[in-house]
Amino acid sequence: MAHAVSWMVAGILVCWFSAGCPAEACRSEEDATFNLREVIIGTCERFQADHQDVFCPNRFKNCTAIWEAFSGAFRKQPRCNVNESRYDRYVQLTATDLPKDKAVFWENVYHFVSRFTNGGRHYFQVGDTLMGYIPDGLQWCGSLNESDITPGGSKCPSSWEASSDCQQGASRAFWVAASKYFAEHVSGEIYVMFNTSVTPIYAIDTYLAKYEIPYLRSGVVTKATALLLNDSPEPGKSKCSDTSLSVLEDQLRQKNIPYVCVENRRDVATIYCLDNPTAKLCDSLDHATNSAPTSSVLTNAMFVLYVCAYVLF
Ligand SMILES: *[C@@H]1O[C@H](CO)[C@@H](O)[C@H](O)[C@H]1NC(C)=O
Ligand SMILES: *[C@@H]1O[C@H](CO)[C@@H](O)[C@H](O)[C@H]1NC(C)=O
Ligand SMILES: *[C@@H]1O[C@H](CO)[C@@H](O)[C@H](O)[C@H]1NC(C)=O
Ligand SMILES: *[C@@H]1O[C@H](CO)[C@@H](O)[C@H](O)[C@H]1NC(C)=O
Repeated sequence: MAHAVSWMVAGILVCWFSAGCPAEACRSEEDATFNLREVIIGTCERFQADHQDVFCPNRFKNCTAIWEAFSGAFRKQPRCNVNESRYDRYVQLTATDLPKDKAVFWENVYHFVSRFTNGGRHYFQVGDTLMGYIPDGLQWCGSLNESDITPGGSKCPSSWEASSDCQQGASRAFWVAASKYFAEHVSGEIYVMFNTSVTPIYAIDTYLAKYEIPYLRSGVVTKATALLLNDSPEPGKSKCSDTSLSVLEDQLRQKNIPYVCVENRRDVATIYCLDNPTAKLCDSLDHATNSAPTSSVLTNAMFVLYVCAYVLF
């Protein structure tokens, strides 16, 4: 009996894990995206169709021209030495107005941040703009030895971070260019989201510290709010006092941009807890009133009405 139960549990676990496996094992994230041209043009068309308030009626952008500018940046370029200014034409063709008071910068919250921004409807991050949305999640690279672009499935240098053997591949050059553009064009109040599970919370070798914060414009950006996501907060110990964040505060002070920091702001916590209901952070949201008092009030009221009706008629 005990055996049967443990086999059943093992079986359930095996099914559960194996169901999760193929997605991870199937394709390495360093493999160049297949059909890159079609994916880029299709994503470009689709994004504009989904954001007609921005692109219609006469600001619809030519996705074929955008593809040519994008691929021209790394076509026949060295694998690990692509200058970010090669994306200038792409940046110019995809640039859109960035609404005031809504920009979000971030580090170490890749999957969460688009939940939080709601794909640009609530706030927006670089990946919610046409420029950043088109290649987000794709992989591509340059090669001096290809007659056209690197074919789908070839290995590309890992996309984001510089390494000793690959200082700046085509994807990294792209994100440097897009980050700088985004930082140079946001205005009003901005937000910077951090994940306190990563140490240091604000690291100086990141895109944020190197290509974003330094490019914010004094007098145009009027306030910066750090939004800390702390999965396991401790009462009375906000991570806002973390020393790495004082580096950020200094960088902002030099630009005369006022800085504040909030740990687990209510909207951040609420959205996080939709997907992570068992996190310690979510305990603090449990003060919500349940429906019992309301319904007993209702029941009592109905009883009184019923008694009144009985007595009166
Ligand atoms: C879009 O751009 C392509 C490539 O530059 C060009 O051949 C085509 O004529 C353009 N289409 C329109 C409608 O402007
Ligand atoms: C990238 O190109 C720009 C403009 O051509 C140039 O000013 C800059 O020095 C280049 N950057 C590097 C790292 O070579
Ligand atoms: C925060 O960082 C930790 C450690 O890298 C990671 O496991 C977790 O998924 C991150 N949280 C979010 C919301 O991205
Ligand atoms: C370039 O590619 C061709 C064909 O794939 C291959 O034969 C050749 O060795 C490559 N050259 C270099 C320098 O990698």
